[in-house]
Amino acid sequence: MKQFQNKTELSRHLNTLKGVNKSVGFVPTMGALHQGHLSLVNRGLDENDIVVVSIFVNPTQFDNQEDLVKYPRTLKTDVDLLKTVSEDRIVVYAPTVEDIYGDHVESQSFKFDGLENEMEGAYRDGHFDGVGTVVKRLFEIVEPQKAYFGEKDFQQLQIIRKLVELHKLPVNIVGCNISRASDGLAMSSRNKRLTKAHRNVAPLIFKILKTAKAKFGTKSAKKVAEWVEKQFQKEPLLELEYFTIADVTTLKPVKRKSKNKTYRAFIAVYAGDIRLIDNIALN
Ligand code: PAF
Repeated sequence: MKQFQNKTELSRHLNTLKGVNKSVGFVPTMGALHQGHLSLVNRGLDENDIVVVSIFVNPTQFDNQEDLVKYPRTLKTDVDLLKTVSEDRIVVYAPTVEDIYGDHVESQSFKFDGLENEMEGAYRDGHFDGVGTVVKRLFEIVEPQKAYFGEKDFQQLQIIRKLVELHKLPVNIVGCNISRASDGLAMSSRNKRLTKAHRNVAPLIFKILKTAKAKFGTKSAKKVAEWVEKQFQKEPLLELEYFTIADVTTLKPVKRKSKNKTYRAFIAVYAGDIRLIDNIALN
């Protein structure tokens, strides 16, 4: 499997492949790969000749330094896992911070039509500037035809779609279904850091989301949110940060339900010091 640390060498290799009409898909990751990432890679392999997987823990998208330091870094295991999927059609790009940022490790400031101010944006200062900066740079380096993102980070997915639209980037964004463990917990690199006790209670998050979805059929968003808050008060190992039912296009919280709009419920929960997010389509 080809592996690059340097963007110039990666571009040279990809240009050779593109020169013989190979299509290139892209799966950006921060490593600590799991089955959720592999499902994105497999989708990429179904739709492209080559899939580039970037593995880069992007410092500018962390508002919490401790989270950045503790973020799992498992490059060798990640590469071994990718080799089980394909030895010859996956290219790994695992750059240094310098290769992406040069001497200035800072993010550009973006406006995404207000999408950046909701939910994760309200709780994680500068997070989407960091995501926008790194994803734009990675797109400019890899120049893929298609790029694959999981719906677990649904707000991120919508923001990247907006980034592509506003900056007229020549790439198709493909949103992919959330991968879940058999007990319903959404797959995340952060799950590896859960204690046994927190891992045992974490499936409650999806269970509550599913019931909230059923309740939204007959109850107002406010009533559903009140019910969700009560459920978390009963579980001392999980602390609810937010639960929001929002319009999928604007990501603004729903005030009055409208038949013509599509909604999703979004949730962020602390399990100890690990922050977990999830969401579910409502209609
Ligand atoms: O979703 C992630 O893992 C990251 O936010 C991304 C898109 C790789 C950018 O660092």
